[in-house]
Amino acid sequence: MSVALVTGAAGGLGAAIAARLAEEHAVLLTDVDARRLKEVASKLAADGARVAHTTCDVSERASVQAAFTAAEEQLGEVTALANVAGVGMFVPFTELTEQQWDHTFAVNTRGTFLACQELLRRRDGRPGAIVNIASIGARLGMEVLADYGPSKAAVIELTHVVSRVGAPTGLRANAVMPGLIWTDMWQKTSEWLLANDPAHAGSSADKIFAGFVESMVPMRRPQTPEDIGEMVAFLLSDRAANVTGQTIAVDGGVVLT
Ligand SMILES: NC(=O)c1ccc[n+]([C@@H]2O[C@H](COP(=O)([O-])OP(=O)(O)OC[C@H]3O[C@@H](n4cnc5c(N)ncnc54)[C@H](O)[C@@H]3O)[C@@H](O)[C@H]2O)c1
Repeated sequence: MSVALVTGAAGGLGAAIAARLAEEHAVLLTDVDARRLKEVASKLAADGARVAHTTCDVSERASVQAAFTAAEEQLGEVTALANVAGVGMFVPFTELTEQQWDHTFAVNTRGTFLACQELLRRRDGRPGAIVNIASIGARLGMEVLADYGPSKAAVIELTHVVSRVGAPTGLRANAVMPGLIWTDMWQKTSEWLLANDPAHAGSSADKIFAGFVESMVPMRRPQTPEDIGEMVAFLLSDRAANVTGQTIAVDGGVVLT
């Protein structure tokens, strides 16, 4: 059985991606949030999946290397990688601090780079597959995402580079741009808007999210973690054997790629 490593696997999207991948692979789940990670992994194991878990901070090279080693020891050599770990928070452009900028890039961009590089080093000229989770925020020029958007745009160009490096030896790399999905990330964002943006006074977090869906998504529906899991599973499988260097939006039509 092939082995997939998922970062950010304790989060809303990461847990769904890990669950979908567990239908086709043994899966190592990793995240910085040890408590939620254990809960997600225990549930998958109880459902009969071949999974293991280890904490991993993707912004630290030693932590990423340790996660790959843990996967090898507990499940076997990693051939598929889903980079899902990420952070994002609305902030007005003139209030964005260099600390938030650096942290966002450390997790979203450096973390994705470190895990991609580790997989390529360990595959050492053999086939493999990577999916990097970007975001529609990479393409929208949103004022409140001045750190997040560029950090995800960099993930897309990094994916191009990795696809070129890996192509001659059959190692593929693609990016997925999720649209609007109700996870902790959107819940915290909506709660922040409720507390800080007078335009949303008296509303509720749910209604704020629904308003973004209504105004942004041509198909007028939010996306689901399962929508993203399905696309990641496809891109990491041999069914996508001739697909590399692509960025696929799963967003109900927000971004035209
Ligand atoms: N929810 C959406 O609408 C949406 C849209 C587009 C893109 N995305 C992207 O999808 C990915 C998953 O987001 P989500 O919506 O599930 O949010 P989430 O907050 O539920 O999950 C993010 C996970 O990343 C983990 N994480 C944070 N810092 C980390 C680090 N340094 N090392 C390892 N793990 C770390 C968190 O602990 C959390 O479990 C992110 O990359 C996000 O940018 C989400």
